[in-house]
Amino acid sequence: MIFLKNFDKVLILDFGSQYTKLIARRIRENHVYCEIHPFNISMEKIKNFNPQAIILSGGPASVLKDGPQIEREIFSLNVPILGICYGLQLMMHLKDGKVKKGSKREFGHADLFVEEKDPFFDNIPKDNSVWMSHGDKVVSLDPEFKKIAHTKNAEYAVIKHKKKPFYGVQFHPEVVHTEYGNQYIRNFLFNICNLKAEWTMGKFIEETVTDIREKVGDKKVILGLSGGVDSSVVAVLLWKAIKEQLVPIFVNNGVLRKGEVEQVRNVFGNVFPMKLDYVDASEKFLDALEGVTDPEKKRKTIGKIFIDVFDKKASKIENAKFLAQGTLYPDVIESVSFKGPSATIKSHHNVGGLPEKMNFELIEPLKELFKDEVRELGKELGLPKEMVQRHPFPGPGLAIRIIGKVTRERLKLVREADAIVREEIKRAGIYDNIWQAFAVLLPIKTVGVMGDERTYENTVAVRMVDSVDGMTADWSKVPYEVLKTISNRIINEIEGINRVTYDISSKPPSTIEWE
Ligand code: XMP
Repeated sequence: MIFLKNFDKVLILDFGSQYTKLIARRIRENHVYCEIHPFNISMEKIKNFNPQAIILSGGPASVLKDGPQIEREIFSLNVPILGICYGLQLMMHLKDGKVKKGSKREFGHADLFVEEKDPFFDNIPKDNSVWMSHGDKVVSLDPEFKKIAHTKNAEYAVIKHKKKPFYGVQFHPEVVHTEYGNQYIRNFLFNICNLKAEWTMGKFIEETVTDIREKVGDKKVILGLSGGVDSSVVAVLLWKAIKEQLVPIFVNNGVLRKGEVEQVRNVFGNVFPMKLDYVDASEKFLDALEGVTDPEKKRKTIGKIFIDVFDKKASKIENAKFLAQGTLYPDVIESVSFKGPSATIKSHHNVGGLPEKMNFELIEPLKELFKDEVRELGKELGLPKEMVQRHPFPGPGLAIRIIGKVTRERLKLVREADAIVREEIKRAGIYDNIWQAFAVLLPIKTVGVMGDERTYENTVAVRMVDSVDGMTADWSKVPYEVLKTISNRIINEIEGINRVTYDISSKPPSTIEWE
């Protein structure tokens, strides 16, 4: 890792808990930098990472049944350790404690009783509610440790080393159901480990800008700008670091939303006076999409032409050595994590993914950041709020929101409908609460009546979903009034649409997009 040399760092060793990413979120929210690594990274790598604290995550395995282990040497590194759930059990298993299978699985709320004063309990009442999720439990402690809190079912709910800064908790402080969860995390970070809360986006910019300059030298960096949050933030960060050595390329693929080309050209030409290389290849894309109905074929067609167009542009730029990408931290964790969450969901999404043969060295300055940190960074860099808060929009764009054939006429219909949906939820002040909101043009016509005449026109489905990461989603319970206005406007203002429906399916089993 070349970035982020000057921050206090926490290393989270992942034993496969579904909550591991949450531990990282909680720590970062407290302005301390941390990284998740699989439990089995080498001791050498741990030493090189040079953490100021280590957290052993929970996990689904059992230490009694060959669950994942770490080397005992971890206790000799002179670094504070916090074991959470499986992490606590593993600590006792590696030391001289004893873990046994519990008579029943404990899941849900439990009352925790604090037994003695300790900096780990600062600002936490003696009796507080914690969240448990475990089968095994510790039944006797290593003599170097002592217990400092218990619950009805777990005698050793919080333990600590008598002399060293090693703690273990049976519950999960990282989940919101633990009443004082964040306080526990803060107490560990700041009271036990004495870390500095210096992980701020301002500092991140300072460090990253220096690193980028050092790495890039006098070469040029190419960036495929889509107008989405990630590539926009990368653009401004690089602009700040290397000004004209950044070559941003913006390809109009013909399936962008209303007003998008103008907005991107304005932000990356006027607000930030870059020399944006704008390529209008819309006709080429639309010609190639003619007659294509299969969703995957639409994606492949758009992906292939994008690469052709981009490659042609990029290969003409002299002195270009680097290609910048907006890879985020969750993408990185998903590819390294032990039994981490499914990484496959996104495989078909990387339409902008450029071929490896392109012989560029990659620059991925957001690789350490979560999405909300990227948004914060964007704000700090002065990107307009509209761009920072923008809903995700798929690479294949409106093409996969027209079910069936993509024609220029149908594109116009869905583009107008989509603009109305966005306008109305912004007007209602609910845009930022919704993960994605859009219109889908269906391949069916239905009967309607307008004035004295029967009509036989197109149907639009409106989809709005709430989600945290796009992996799962629920349909948004937006006020009827908003739905009413959207429906009225679409039917009255767009000739060719006489019916609007609202999609009330959640993901899974449905997906967010219809194709
Ligand atoms: P689904 O429809 O699979 O979508 O529930 C999850 C998230 O991914 C976006 N999505 C895509 N993004 N290229 C992209 O860049 C694609 O082909 C693609 N398909 C879906 C979708 O908008 C949602 O945010």
